[in-house]
Amino acid sequence: MGFHMLDETAAFLETLFAHITDAILIVDAKGDVIGVNPAFERMTGWSGAELLGKKSLCELCRGMATCQEEASCIDCFASRLQTPSFQMHVVTKRGEEIAVAASSTRLPLEAGGQGALAVILRDTSDMQRIERERHQRQLTNYVIQAQEEERKRISRDLHDGIGQALYSIMVGLRVVNQLQIDEEIKHHLEEVQQLTARTMEEVKSLSVELRPSALDDLGLVAALRSYAKRFEQTFGILTHIEISGQRRRYHSTVETALYRICQEAMTNAAKYADTDQITLRFVDRADRVELEVEDAGIGFDPTQLQIRGTGLGLFGMRERVSLLGGTLTLTSAPQKGTKIHVEILVDEKGGPRYVHPTADRG
Ligand SMILES: Nc1ncnc2c1ncn2[C@@H]1O[C@H](COP(=O)(O)OP(=O)(O)OP(=O)(O)O)[C@@H](O)[C@H]1O
Ligand SMILES: [Mg+2]
Repeated sequence: MGFHMLDETAAFLETLFAHITDAILIVDAKGDVIGVNPAFERMTGWSGAELLGKKSLCELCRGMATCQEEASCIDCFASRLQTPSFQMHVVTKRGEEIAVAASSTRLPLEAGGQGALAVILRDTSDMQRIERERHQRQLTNYVIQAQEEERKRISRDLHDGIGQALYSIMVGLRVVNQLQIDEEIKHHLEEVQQLTARTMEEVKSLSVELRPSALDDLGLVAALRSYAKRFEQTFGILTHIEISGQRRRYHSTVETALYRICQEAMTNAAKYADTDQITLRFVDRADRVELEVEDAGIGFDPTQLQIRGTGLGLFGMRERVSLLGGTLTLTSAPQKGTKIHVEILVDEKGGPRYVHPTADRG
């Protein structure tokens, strides 16, 4: 009866050893490999035959780190009775290093000896990659939000602070100009008045360029229309605007993202497309909003991107869209023009249907 139970336990453990998804490595007291399970073979590419009695623990280990710190070989987990959890770098057959979460425990196998050591390993590289990507996205989101807030603040300061001060100077100059002053001073005064008026215009357009108040006060469509008008005046590029669907307000994250994408796509067209016409399409559908910027310019091969500026524009567009769970399609080919199409799913209140875990909806 007793032997029977032992047989059953052994069979159970053997099945567990063979089928468990965690990799198991067993080494003797000297550190030589005396057992590996199929999951270890899959993880590292080594077969049992290549390891058993041929490799030692140290040949497969590229260092470990405990929760507290990086541990040295002198402080190797193999010298301890039990190490509940640590990170270990394992060398695969192809010579790559993979980071795995590990724990080790001593097995009382060798009579009178120290006992063998079982090391249980879990491949965490996928989890680490996902965590790294999540962190990266979170950072990007913070940078985008912070940049937008900073632009808003500078734009407001320019408009309310410097803009108002310049206006007061203009009024003061006008008053002085109406006094009885000699012709030469009057002439100088008029020059200063003109200079002040030009500076006021520049401050105003800088403030609008940074963050148009129309975007917050009147909404995306109004802000796009006035951007297109300023764009035409600045670059002399005819801009056709096609707007369809109902015109509602969307959540500010959606409006800001679409406005910035449009700004970047149109600036790219002005800088690189060598065209005199651009079409801006905006479609409001019940469940989504679509934006398209198309030029009939010289185009480019998107697989052979030749960065002519800092190269952050397209990247930034994609990041903004991805934070809202949308899609961005870039279609371009040499001599065939360029089209940027963006689609974002929205709910009935105009908010993004998808909320990225790290996105700040405020
Ligand atoms: N409409 C376009 N027509 C022709 N080439 C384009 C167009 N849009 C982008 N490109 C090409 O793609 C490259 C990458 O564009 P992207 O906006 O990412 O970077 P950039 O404009 O070079 O720099 P940044 O936007 O950071 O100032 C550009 O350098 C240019 O070569
Ligand atoms: Mg650009």
